Amino acid sequence: MRVLVTGATGYIGSHTVVELLERGHDVIGVDDFSASVPSVQGTIEQISGQPMTLVQLDLRHRDGVDALIGSVQPDALIHFAGRKFVGESVSDPIQYYGRNVTASINLAEACQRHGVDQIIFSSSCTVYGEATILPVSEANPIMPVSPYGRSKAMTESVLSDLAAAWDDLSVLALRYFNPIGAHPAGILGEVPIGEPNNLLPYVMQVARGERPELSVFGDDYPTPDGTCIRDYVHVVDIAKAHAIALDYTTRYRGFEAMNLGTGVGRSVLEVIRAARDVTARPIPYRIVERRPGDAARVYAQAKRASYHLDWEADPDLHRMIADHWRFERSLSSERRLAS
Ligand code: WQD
Repeated sequence: MRVLVTGATGYIGSHTVVELLERGHDVIGVDDFSASVPSVQGTIEQISGQPMTLVQLDLRHRDGVDALIGSVQPDALIHFAGRKFVGESVSDPIQYYGRNVTASINLAEACQRHGVDQIIFSSSCTVYGEATILPVSEANPIMPVSPYGRSKAMTESVLSDLAAAWDDLSVLALRYFNPIGAHPAGILGEVPIGEPNNLLPYVMQVARGERPELSVFGDDYPTPDGTCIRDYVHVVDIAKAHAIALDYTTRYRGFEAMNLGTGVGRSVLEVIRAARDVTARPIPYRIVERRPGDAARVYAQAKRASYHLDWEADPDLHRMIADHWRFERSLSSERRLAS
């Protein structure tokens, strides 16, 4: 199939493009390089052994999006592009609604105009907010508590309403829990720009000695060791789910949402212990105040993806961290500076 992938040089997008190319799909990537670098294209092609097309575009430009979809005429759209940090979204909500919602509306409108009737959307467990029912299933209420989570929930509503109005449309919203890790080749992974927001990239930089210690955002949560619990899932497992999802959207019509997680929750301190095992580095940390927007416990029930996509995620935390650590060590300081 000819697949248009937005956010194609980003963390999840780049790993998904590798899986798509390895399955023989024709991939046209689009990115604005606001949080990634074009050289990721070469890495993707090196790992997959296949060429891809890469286009630069800011998806907030409606006319540019329409021209892109009209010229590419893809069979399917996989939409990753967007900002993804809970804390940042609280301090800069307009950026999140522009990049995550306006851009998505532009894409949905262009897909309808040009008859692109298969859409896979990169959604997030943050649409559930402070999960009161655990494990989190797709039947949990949608109650986002951050602008980031609301931007994902709004986009799901846009796509769900479009699917109700356009009978031929198939939309699959994949709600990721906490993606970590990197491709086992050791040359593709997440390269945070500036100080990492997410836990594992920060832990990896402490392990490398780039940062003196990790700040643990609170140990007074209602959890066994007081630190927040999350469902960490390997980025390659997430990527594989997207490639499989293309078959699903070819067969089914309408809007569907599916959780992508392992079903296993781990605390911040458990992640630190596993990272110490994997890296054999001390990884010092300090307990500090809570971070606004954090939920105490979030972990998935992913039965729907297991049933409909025949998809399972390996919950082996040490393996995920080992893959992440291999990539982290491949990052020379100039490569990180180039990011
Ligand atoms: C995890 C835990 C922090 C950094 C992420 C993505 C979001 C979504 C869900 C896909 C929390 C703690 C973190 C640090 C810390 N995924 N922490 N010190 O907030 O669950 O959200 O997964 O859509 O896009 O951002 O992940 O890695 O930021 O935090 O103590 O320096 O680690 O408090 O409990 P989060 P995170």
